Amino acid sequence: MLKKRVAVLVSGGGTNLQAILDAEKSGLIKSAKTVLVISNVADAYALKRAEKHGVKTAVVLKKECGGQGPFEAKIAKILEAENIDLIVLAGFMSILSESFTKRFEGKIINIHPSLIPSFCGKGFYGLRVHEAALNYGVKVTGATVHFVNEIPDGGEIIMQKAVDVLPGDTPETLQRRVMEQAEWLILPRAIEYICSGEYQKT
Ligand code: GRF
Repeated sequence: MLKKRVAVLVSGGGTNLQAILDAEKSGLIKSAKTVLVISNVADAYALKRAEKHGVKTAVVLKKECGGQGPFEAKIAKILEAENIDLIVLAGFMSILSESFTKRFEGKIINIHPSLIPSFCGKGFYGLRVHEAALNYGVKVTGATVHFVNEIPDGGEIIMQKAVDVLPGDTPETLQRRVMEQAEWLILPRAIEYICSGEYQKT
């Protein structure tokens, strides 16, 4: 079977991208191949990870494009030129507009570091998510892979995994545990789940 063509959109360290690339190498992901990594940050370490794996990269800076519209148009053009089947947001720190999410409806997924619908939506990104979980006092948190629509973190849930909050946790220790025990596992699994055709979006 022809492998689905995946693009990963990043802004930072790219540990989730690494988990995807490792899963492709190990055979956990059989039905897809990452063929493109797009970053909206010029020096994102994720770009180095992509290059190391021989994956094509592109940098698209909002400032250089002159606004959200042209920024998204440029990304869309690159994605369409590469015939991308699935767009994976993996630490991509820019909210995409409704016109973009509609253009690629059912083709964009995101990983969020909490159990949606807790600690999600506008303003909940990075360490803030874990700070909020600790402030609330939840004893279990986790990560969620979901489809992306016009509502931040509001699209259909594909996969979730719970992670214990431990006494003495800081936002940093919790963030690391959620990555190790949830994000890096469920994002590759969700990609295979979708690209194999086993998961059907409702
Ligand atoms: C992860 O916590 C992810 O859930 C969130 O941003 C972080 C990205 O980390 N959306 P990395 O760039 O994959 O290391």
